[in-house]
Amino acid sequence: MTKPLEGIKIIDFTHVQAGPACTQLLAWFGADVIKVERPGSGDVTRNQLRDIPDADALYFTMLNSNKKSLTLDTKKAEGKEVLEKLIRESDVLVENFGPGALDRMGFSWERLNELNPKMIVASVKGFSDGHHYDDLKVYENVAQCAGGAASTTGFWDGPPTISAAALGDSNTGMHLAIGILTALLGRDKTGKGQKVAVSMQDSVLNLCRVKLRDQQRLERVGYLEEYPQYPHGEFSDVVPRGGNAGGGGQPGWVLKCKDWETDPNAYIYFTIQGHAWEPICKALGKPEWIDDPAYKTAEARQPHIFEIFKTIEAWLADKTKFEAVDILRKFDIPCAPVLTMKELANDPSLRASGTIVEVPHKKRGSYLTVGSPIKFSDMKPHVTASPLLGEHTDEVLAGLGYSQQDIFNLREIKAV
Ligand code: COA
Repeated sequence: MTKPLEGIKIIDFTHVQAGPACTQLLAWFGADVIKVERPGSGDVTRNQLRDIPDADALYFTMLNSNKKSLTLDTKKAEGKEVLEKLIRESDVLVENFGPGALDRMGFSWERLNELNPKMIVASVKGFSDGHHYDDLKVYENVAQCAGGAASTTGFWDGPPTISAAALGDSNTGMHLAIGILTALLGRDKTGKGQKVAVSMQDSVLNLCRVKLRDQQRLERVGYLEEYPQYPHGEFSDVVPRGGNAGGGGQPGWVLKCKDWETDPNAYIYFTIQGHAWEPICKALGKPEWIDDPAYKTAEARQPHIFEIFKTIEAWLADKTKFEAVDILRKFDIPCAPVLTMKELANDPSLRASGTIVEVPHKKRGSYLTVGSPIKFSDMKPHVTASPLLGEHTDEVLAGLGYSQQDIFNLREIKAV
């Protein structure tokens, strides 16, 4: 099966999560991704949170599958020379170094464009170019705070809260992948490469779009009717943290199921979608609510929405989260069990679809990872193990025309 990105050569100058998540995705879809790493150490995540001594950590293996690894000291003249050769024959260079690192290395956008005018140069930074914080180094949680996610996540009586989803890292990598593919299509038309830049702050904010919607609604009318603060609590002049409230026109909440006292994940998410009110009343055995004016419309329900949720919890008290969803799905009610990582790892549907995959690895034995969440009718991305440090150095250098003796010499001076 040929893959759509076959023939696209990518210099993967990325580390940690944001950049590697982007290049991993492109590798799944067929790109030849060569990860350039510092000799001796490589990507810092190879060593972070190791669970097996002397084997690459899962943090690395789960973000660098389907890639090659080339060790190269790009601060040494000989290393720069190798990189220049690689640049001349590559389609894309992706990097997520701290601000200015690539320039200090001698590979500014102008220099890269001069070496290969057709190459796309894609960067992740914490903040966009010209932003008053553009000199800052940024990690995941910093981005979640800077992008508006933290101030709007959590409960109103608690502090700003970080989401477990990598909104700053992997989400930014996905934005960058879209940018790279767009620039590749653009190059087909113009013959020219371009610079693609994505900031973590912007990518978080893009996913917090509805919170900016809420800020403007709040400023206009002084309240937000779908938030738990309405109508009994108080609003200030900024979007509050709304706990587990639904973010659109459908109120929802995380509700307790059987055994919640002992199982911290015995919950479902329950959504009261307007047109599902009648089936909800039927499912709950409350047919009298269907035409009761105090319950009939979303507006009428909102002032006592938590009393309604309590009634639903009473109904859920003798049902597990799975039993509850099995009943509610028959009534077309949008809901789901709160699933743990253990349940997801063992979910047969996710295994069958290739979303959870088991990958054999030379040193670790096999490990689980998340495969492509994007499914195609003509291609099933196959996840292969992440490379060992420098596993493909000889292969890549030979492809650039270096002889065995040249490679030996480069090793002697620790340039590779
Ligand atoms: N050979 C020689 N030097 C190399 C090299 C190689 N193969 N690869 C990297 N380096 C050097 C760089 O040139 C740079 O050196 P310099 O600072 O002397 O110019 C250094 O290694 C890397 O610096 P930096 O990227 O700033 O690493 P850091 O560990 O201090 O910071 C981050 C890590 C993630 C905070 C920072 O890279 C960053 O802010 N990145 C942009 C935002 C981002 O992607 N964050 C999310 C990560 S999930």
